[in-house]
Amino acid sequence: METKTQTVREVSSIAEMKEVSQSFRKQNLTIGFVPTMGCLHEGHLNLVKRSLETCDRTVVSIFINPTQFGPNEDLDTYPRQLQSDIEKLVEAGVDILFHPSNEEMYPTDYKTYVQVQDITEHLCGTSRPDLFKGVSTVVLKLFNIVQPHNAFFGEKDWQQLAVIEALVEDLNLDVVLNRVPIVRE
Ligand code: PAF
Repeated sequence: METKTQTVREVSSIAEMKEVSQSFRKQNLTIGFVPTMGCLHEGHLNLVKRSLETCDRTVVSIFINPTQFGPNEDLDTYPRQLQSDIEKLVEAGVDILFHPSNEEMYPTDYKTYVQVQDITEHLCGTSRPDLFKGVSTVVLKLFNIVQPHNAFFGEKDWQQLAVIEALVEDLNLDVVLNRVPIVRE
């Protein structure tokens, strides 16, 4: 019997990712999206599982977003394990991995940021002022690129989720946010 070799299609250019999503949409396939910064654990895989169960196609992004790290924060030492992440995504049955470079997402003349007010001025936002500006900016960019019908986030990062909910509502984005109870290893 022929065994099917499972793969995940890796996309690193914004133009290609948009083409793929537009082609899914033209075929009336629903797109589920799980944005991550890699180093995938059970919590991420639970979000992926929800997307696979409820959407026709699942896109996972791995992008360590530099704009959500402050000057003295841990960007350089943030863990990276792309190869084992890819293996986990293949095993889970994810359709597309979007992993753009920093230059692709933030070219040298990059100027635009979005900021959700109020919610971001407490707790994590107090000690890490760049965090939520960077998160809302990158999430908006990723939504514009991936064009998902549904996006999946862990409930545990509730302040981040509140920021993203405000972003979606205030900017009238056409994406449904799904809160998933997070599982940690
Ligand atoms: O929660 C994360 O991993 C990140 O903040 C996110 C939402 C992928 C944006 O970079």
